[in-house]
Amino acid sequence: MIITKKVLRNVSLTAHPVGCRRYVEDQIAWVESHAKHSTQEHYPQIENLPLPKRVLILGGSTGYGLSSRIVAAFANGADTINVSFEREPSENKTATPGWYNTMAFEDIAKRKGLKASSVFGDAFSTQVKEAVAQRIQDELGQVDLVIYSLASPLRNDPATGQTYKSVLKPIGKTFSALSVDLESEIVKQATIEPATEEQVTETVKVMGGEDWSLWIDFLLKKHLLAKDAMTVAYSYIGPRITYPVYREGTIGKAKEHLENSAAQLTNKLKAINGKAYVSVNKALVTRASAVIPVVPLYMALLYQVMKEKGLHEHCTQQIYRLFTTLLYSNKAIPTDSEGRVRVDDWEMLSEIQQEVERRWALQQEGKPLVQGDLGGVWEEYEQIHGFGFSDIDYTKDVDPRIV
Ligand code: NAI
Repeated sequence: MIITKKVLRNVSLTAHPVGCRRYVEDQIAWVESHAKHSTQEHYPQIENLPLPKRVLILGGSTGYGLSSRIVAAFANGADTINVSFEREPSENKTATPGWYNTMAFEDIAKRKGLKASSVFGDAFSTQVKEAVAQRIQDELGQVDLVIYSLASPLRNDPATGQTYKSVLKPIGKTFSALSVDLESEIVKQATIEPATEEQVTETVKVMGGEDWSLWIDFLLKKHLLAKDAMTVAYSYIGPRITYPVYREGTIGKAKEHLENSAAQLTNKLKAINGKAYVSVNKALVTRASAVIPVVPLYMALLYQVMKEKGLHEHCTQQIYRLFTTLLYSNKAIPTDSEGRVRVDDWEMLSEIQQEVERRWALQQEGKPLVQGDLGGVWEEYEQIHGFGFSDIDYTKDVDPRIV
């Protein structure tokens, strides 16, 4: 079939197998070349760094999780297991990008002699936890690092069978701010009604630290975490402009819960001298972030400002910097006053934030976005779904079942 991009309300309904493979290959090439030959202080060569050799990635098929898998495997030759939720392709329907990415990643990793496999299914369920435990036992023995990078709209609680939904809403009062539609590129007003108390609780159930803790308890009990093992979950803080809908909204409450869980997990991990951290990452276009109201407008301004200052990074660069200069640098892991690792440091520089704020004030409802890089945001959004690569012929008939 001829696969074209179809986007509905910032959600891509299709993905291109050839382009997804290209996306994964490009990220791998970037990591391999930096691991061996980098002369950049922020992306050092990996020689002598104590990077993990056996890694479990929960949510490792797209975005920050995929980048974590790529950095672990191709900077340092780690064996990896991914857990993600995917739709498989059929003769006339494309798979999720995560499925194509995973097929491409595992094919390339295996050719290089690395162990690489996936458990596709609901990471919140007990069955998937059991299947992963068996897989670790069979393939890796134990793991040295567990990355928690799930972004999900809902969670079935395995203990009660209840389904919780996460929402992106302010708390207490209605929030109105400018936003931008990725497709029309027109700035418009977004108004979001506040969440009910129940919605706040449910969002914390989905995106907070409860499931992360269940995973770590489970793996500890089964003796599948190696001595000195580490677990890292990803969080976001962002600028004041997005506080009402992000950090002080429903998702912010969930992130607070996730961040508080890290200290509790570190306590539990003492038995194996392990540690749990939350890393606060930069705002980047992923399947999850594109649907957060107001955030695409912020990202368009942020991308432009960071590119002008030579500080823009994509997910893989963020994770490479996180692994090599913060988590596994042979020095004590630096944290902020709340114990969080900060790889959003460049995004949060006051010179960057002030310039974003200045440009935000220039935007007008009903007009195209000005002084921002919507093109760059859109390009990354297309590429994470396998579209927008100039040397791929998208008019060619391809079998969606073959990567
Ligand atoms: P993403 O949408 O690219 O990746 C989410 C991953 O979770 C995918 O692999 C997906 O298959 C998997 N997943 C979702 N539901 C699942 C389920 N029930 N069972 C198994 N796998 C499931 O999202 P992104 O943006 O990479 O987010 C990952 C984490 O990073 C989230 O915690 C997010 O809040 C955080 N983060 C994201 C930032 C951004 O700007 N994109 C910034 C800072 C943190």
